[in-house]
Amino acid sequence: MKETPIDYQTVKRIISESQISSVGSASIREIKRLITDIEEASGTKFIRMEMGIPGISAAQVGVDAQIEALRNNVAAIYPDIDGLPALKEEAARFCKNFLDIEVSPASCLPTVGSMMGGFATFMTMSKANPKKDTTLFIDPGFPVQKQQHKVLGLKLETFDVYEYRGEKIREKLESILSKGNIHSMIYSNPNNPTWICFTEQELQIIGEIATKYDVVVIEDLAYFGMDFRKDISKPGIAPFQPSVAKYTDKYILFISSSKAFSYAGERCGMMILSDTLFNTKYEGLVPFYGTPIFGRAIVYGAIYCLSSGTSHSAQYALAAILKACNDGTYNYLDDVKVYGEKAAIMKKMFVENGFKIVYDTDIDQPIADGFYFTIAYPGFSGEELLEEFLYYGISAISLGITGSKRTEGLRACVSLVHESQFPDLEYRLKKFKEHHS
Ligand SMILES: Cc1ncc(COP(=O)(O)O)c(C=O)c1O
Repeated sequence: MKETPIDYQTVKRIISESQISSVGSASIREIKRLITDIEEASGTKFIRMEMGIPGISAAQVGVDAQIEALRNNVAAIYPDIDGLPALKEEAARFCKNFLDIEVSPASCLPTVGSMMGGFATFMTMSKANPKKDTTLFIDPGFPVQKQQHKVLGLKLETFDVYEYRGEKIREKLESILSKGNIHSMIYSNPNNPTWICFTEQELQIIGEIATKYDVVVIEDLAYFGMDFRKDISKPGIAPFQPSVAKYTDKYILFISSSKAFSYAGERCGMMILSDTLFNTKYEGLVPFYGTPIFGRAIVYGAIYCLSSGTSHSAQYALAAILKACNDGTYNYLDDVKVYGEKAAIMKKMFVENGFKIVYDTDIDQPIADGFYFTIAYPGFSGEELLEEFLYYGISAISLGITGSKRTEGLRACVSLVHESQFPDLEYRLKKFKEHHS
């Protein structure tokens, strides 16, 4: 038997004790638990690339504002369901400064993370028009949003965008949207899990086809501005974060604070509705929400039912962070660009040891270095590779659970890997190559 970096028998035992039927298709949280158990049993630290947890400290300007708000007793008071006025103002300014779009503060709604933004959106969108009962996922995507559909009993369709980049996405979208059953479509940009970034041309096509078929575009900007090939960090100055909001007038944007501002723990993000969508009347909403107006239904129906608003003190934090970005006193991208630097080094190590990057280009440009990248090894399916990696002290998740058709691949997340672990990573990859050449 070959000597693997983590003792073979220990890994085998922990896998069997975990009662996970197939490690390769386990959820992110299951993998996290399993790795922690193997680390404890073997006494060896993994190169942990399975979960997208921010690897740096929370934006200080937010922490300070939140502490001050708590001292001022906001914890005792229910926040307004549609959000703190100062946060709504700063969010609208942020949209103007960093997306170059106009939205009114009324259309900027805090949610308990983008996770809840998604839940509220799907609950509301699915009731808007009785003739349209399906969400389209432009995949690969964030698996939990599909789980949200499952628990709500909602229909979805999906396709892997890998084969449909550039102009090719037009025909694909036409073929699906022309059936008439799609109420909205969702994607993340930059994309979790592949880090592909749609070009302006692709966003324009998505916007045009959505407008043609009256489909709402849900653009998940969880990694706002983190395509480090362009510096979008100067308020009011081009380039801006590319967005479909330039090309259609019925959209919902999710601006998460979790990764951009490392504020994941406080569960406070922004959901931005276009003013047009906010004010659109859908008769299908009336039996469920008592109003046909989409914006009122989502605020006083969905968000009210789900959580009656968002943590009061965290809203003060996010308002202060957005204000500092808007005023140009805080450049959040300076804090997070380390993810891109780490990705460049780690990708090189993988490629030098026989791996390939699965989603490797944005049409004609090499993919950016960022929070995630995708890898495959000749002769392995993603699920097999994920399991084999456990013996080498490396963890990731299988692309299969993200809606990707490239089932040979894994998603690797750079955030929790410390630079001091790079020599270990290199050693383990070399061993892997040695054992599997
Ligand atoms: C694409 C995407 N959307 C949404 C989320 C969740 O964001 P939040 O922490 O704001 O709920 C994540 C987190 O990993 C994500 O990657």
